[in-house]
Amino acid sequence: MTQSFDVVVIGAGPGGYIAAIRAGQLGLSVACVEGNAYDDPKGEPRLGGTCLNVGCIPSKALLASSEEFEKITHHAEDHGITVKGASIDVGKMVARKDGIVGKMTGGIQYLFKKNKVTLLKGYASFAGKAEGGFNVSVKAADGTVSAVVAKQVIIASGSKARHLPGIPVDNKLICDNEGALKFGDVPKRLGVIGAGVIGLELGSVWRRLGAEVTVLEALPNFLAACDESVGKEMLKIFKGQGLNISLGVKIGEVKAGKKAVSIAYTDADGKAQTLDCDKLIVSVGRVPYTDGLNLDSIGLKTNERGMIDVDAHCQTLVAGVFAVGDVVRGAMLAHKAEEEGVMVAEIIAGQKGHCNYDAIPWVIYTSPEVAWVGKTEQDLKASGRAYKAGQFPFMANGRALGQGDSQGFVKVLADAKTDEVLGVHIINSHASDLIAEAVMAIEFKASSEDIGRICHAHPSLSEVVKEAALACDKRQLNM
Ligand code: FAD
Ligand code: NAI
Repeated sequence: MTQSFDVVVIGAGPGGYIAAIRAGQLGLSVACVEGNAYDDPKGEPRLGGTCLNVGCIPSKALLASSEEFEKITHHAEDHGITVKGASIDVGKMVARKDGIVGKMTGGIQYLFKKNKVTLLKGYASFAGKAEGGFNVSVKAADGTVSAVVAKQVIIASGSKARHLPGIPVDNKLICDNEGALKFGDVPKRLGVIGAGVIGLELGSVWRRLGAEVTVLEALPNFLAACDESVGKEMLKIFKGQGLNISLGVKIGEVKAGKKAVSIAYTDADGKAQTLDCDKLIVSVGRVPYTDGLNLDSIGLKTNERGMIDVDAHCQTLVAGVFAVGDVVRGAMLAHKAEEEGVMVAEIIAGQKGHCNYDAIPWVIYTSPEVAWVGKTEQDLKASGRAYKAGQFPFMANGRALGQGDSQGFVKVLADAKTDEVLGVHIINSHASDLIAEAVMAIEFKASSEDIGRICHAHPSLSEVVKEAALACDKRQLNM
């Protein structure tokens, strides 16, 4: 007999698995379909999607290992600690990362059981509408196809790396995120196309371990999505760390040999240049993934950018079919996908699910980290909104000095009249944690005065958030 469910979720990335768990918590009968085995030793589908398998979690594990190595080899001396003969075993580092990924993906299996989510192993495709819902077929790795009926469907099929024409990614010599997370050793010369989040995070990993890293970026300005002051400061910091960054380049022919790659490009001055490297990472953005979904069969199609169109509540043009995460508009971030997953599950259960797209933080996990939420100064100028800005450096904070974390600043942007916090931008090694206070401020429509009046622990990095808020009215206390 064909199984039927209140909800079938397609894809077990952060959008899908969280939606499935929330739906289970709300008492709905729910199945989640996942077919990708990633690097599973038994070839079993792995839960967690891009994020857990080839994205957020493995990249952060490698960032942590390489940061330890850099601290030991370059910064221990500052504390009077002498370490001789430190070396890195890349195999062990990668195995540690794989162990963390395995633990996390296994954890979702447990959460599915706990929340009564049925896991369907295989790739899902729509097989037309059914009475009171949709037919979904699931093709397992061995080719067997099973059919289920879903009253409502949540598509959470995610994204894949964008590749460039003429640059064949083999994930050995020329890599996207998947290959770049499992190098067998440290390349002597690493090329990176695209100075976005992946290029800077993974470029930093291999630079810290000794690679000579060159990042080639098409845009003339650095980190264009960030507040301009942050982009400028981070460019100085990265260059100081030894990352070679060329902006405004145009990539030409890329020739892959047996052991090396040669990239012809035109630099910002229009001069022809060549970069020879032992490995190349192509990190020029991601594209939505909808292959094999057979959307036509239910009257859905993707837009000109390959995404599934949805409204503010992730409802597609077909009633009863929702889509969340990287496959729809908005930031391609795991926590945004999760928020949407929860929202949709709650809406399906009859609740008033909601996602505040103005309060989604961004973090770049380099050292120092960059984090922001809300508007940049250039956004506010472009919209003509009158604002005030308060900025405070970590250099003037005792805890930051003690920890050797004195680079960077916090910048708070607030409405000139109402004082409502509109944007917060942070450069600091702990920016990913510090930004939470700013997200809460924006979510609760706090004023900069509210943040300035909250008691922040001393000594702590969070005092810099308070000082930056006070600086909006020129009342900072320690500078
Ligand atoms: P995905 O995670 O892509 O999951 C979709 C899943 O659906 C996949 O497992 C896929 O196999 C499955 N699927 C697709 N089609 C079908 C089908 N027909 N049937 C069954 N299953 C299907 N974001 C952050 O917020 N913080 C970070 O630090 C961060 N770091 C990143 C680092 C890297 C290197 C990369 C590549 C990405 C990173 N991201 C980060 C982005 C984050 O991984 C994505 O935004 C997030 O995974 C999107 O979640 P999703 O559920 O929409 O899709
Ligand atoms: P990205 O969008 O962050 O950066 C891509 C960069 O490549 C841009 O600066 C773009 O101008 C440049 N580019 C595009 N075409 C080019 C070309 N032909 N030549 C040279 N440069 C070119 O994309 P990235 O780094 O691939 O990451 C994909 C997405 O994954 C991110 O946008 C983000 O949503 C997510 N991600 C999030 C992370 C985090 O939250 N910390 C970490 C890594 C990825």
